[in-house]
Amino acid sequence: MNTSAPPPLLRVTGLHKRFGQDEVLKGIDLDVQPGERIAILGASGSGKSTLLRCLNFMELPSAGRVELDGEAIGKERPGRSGEVVYSEAELTQVRQRVGMVFQQFNLFPHMTALANVMEGLRTVKRMDRVDAERRAREQLKRVGLADKADNYPARLSGGQKQRVAIARALAMEPELLLFDEPTSALDPELVGEVLVVIRALAQEGRTMLLVTHEVGFAYHFADRILFIADGVIHEQGTPDEVLKHPRQARTQAFLASHNEFTF
Ligand SMILES: Nc1ncnc2c1ncn2[C@@H]1O[C@H](COP(=O)(O)OP(=O)(O)OP(=O)(O)O)[C@@H](O)[C@H]1O
Ligand SMILES: [Mg+2]
Repeated sequence: MNTSAPPPLLRVTGLHKRFGQDEVLKGIDLDVQPGERIAILGASGSGKSTLLRCLNFMELPSAGRVELDGEAIGKERPGRSGEVVYSEAELTQVRQRVGMVFQQFNLFPHMTALANVMEGLRTVKRMDRVDAERRAREQLKRVGLADKADNYPARLSGGQKQRVAIARALAMEPELLLFDEPTSALDPELVGEVLVVIRALAQEGRTMLLVTHEVGFAYHFADRILFIADGVIHEQGTPDEVLKHPRQARTQAFLASHNEFTF
């Protein structure tokens, strides 16, 4: 009998990311278990977006490994220890398994909500039109936008645009969902409708990493909080540990500057 624990859904080991001379990520180590919800906090410019972008390979890591479900992404180049090469075919696969929702929605402006959600199903998953449309309509319904399928983004509110973007990510049936400040671009009165959708996904047991400045939401949403500083995970723990009893001075200072939240 195999009694070893199942591998984490995501394992990140020694992840570094440089832009020229600027080393933004300096060794991120992170295991994410299936169903875990993680909120990522950190000052502006600390590398939160860069970390998420490396996890779905919109940016290629400069060093380090990413494993999904026990499988390493990329291959070490023979004889060049530590250097990892990635094939486009593999990265296309990974981007289906790891969905991402952006602060600025990133919808195609010349396509309706329905067409935006269908796009990846058609071009990446190569689904036929009827199946893609059925799945896209299901996902729009799920985020409460069944009646907006034919609207172009210009005729949607910010909260609706973000819900379309979430429907688009969900349609690809990702194993892991990444959210990069999904409510930061929204007027305050539109934040709630997006958080409701994210909370419902959390209740379904989905595995999610969420970058946010909404400390109060992070407290209720997350099983674990990561605080990023100086390119590493500076402090992590349960929401109570990190948000109510931070041990590190940097974490304390960050939270003091976000003192508008209530638990
Ligand atoms: N494509 C890029 N080329 C060069 N530098 C970049 C690139 N992307 C990010 N950076 C730099 O990396 C650093 C981290 O940026 P990142 O966007 O990851 O920060 P962040 O924590 O998401 O900040 P914010 O809270 O403002 O969104 C910044 O100094 C930024 O200028
Ligand atoms: Mg960012």
